[in-house]
Amino acid sequence: MKIKNKSFKDKSKKWLKRHVDDEFVQKSISDNYRSRAAYKLIEIIEKYKILDGVKSIIDLGSAPGSWCQVLKNHGKSLNSIIAVDLLEMAEIKGVTFYQSDFLSSEFEIISKTVDAFDLVLSDISPNLSGNKVSDFLLSKDLVENALSFSLQNLNTNGHFVAKYFRTGDISDVLTICKRNFYKVSSFKPKSSRKNSSEIYLVCLRKK
Ligand SMILES: C[S@@+](CC[C@H](N)C(=O)[O-])C[C@H]1O[C@@H](n2cnc3c(N)ncnc32)[C@H](O)[C@@H]1O
Repeated sequence: MKIKNKSFKDKSKKWLKRHVDDEFVQKSISDNYRSRAAYKLIEIIEKYKILDGVKSIIDLGSAPGSWCQVLKNHGKSLNSIIAVDLLEMAEIKGVTFYQSDFLSSEFEIISKTVDAFDLVLSDISPNLSGNKVSDFLLSKDLVENALSFSLQNLNTNGHFVAKYFRTGDISDVLTICKRNFYKVSSFKPKSSRKNSSEIYLVCLRKK
């Protein structure tokens, strides 16, 4: 038992050191972003110009809120930012936040009361168990649901960006994306940790 505790302590010490030393953690503190995830979205915005002309956005899995902060800082033509998360999120001026499961019927009712979006973002992660197969299946299920939400709620020419994990096959999801969007890419931002299997699906211009 003692040995297990020691290895747990060693692992958490290593995690803490890696976190504190991380250049994007340090940058997020000096730039006032709530998390280092901000820089992943900034890279996606710069590479794919996903905010150009965009007026309304929904951010699925938004807490603690760094993507919403980025949207506020980078979106020149934005009228509306809606955010949803299972967890609480501290207020960001100009962002309408719902604490809800985006798969719940409660959220389905909420989403019917708002207009369609020009951009659907999903940085949603499931609670990871460490089991690669079940974590992949959980994350794939979330991506499929986010995609189906975006197909129902995006304006024509709107964009969809979602995180997924490269630990399994998502070719069936990509096929649906290619059928419904003019351009589909996968992108690993430099700010995404190299040892993380996360990657972003970027679907541009819904047909
Ligand atoms: C990686 S974090 C998002 C970080 C965020 N993009 C930021 O920049 O602050 C993933 C979030 O997805 C949320 N999440 C997971 N499943 C969800 C669901 N079914 N509905 C809403 N949010 C969910 C989690 O609570 C978590 O806060």
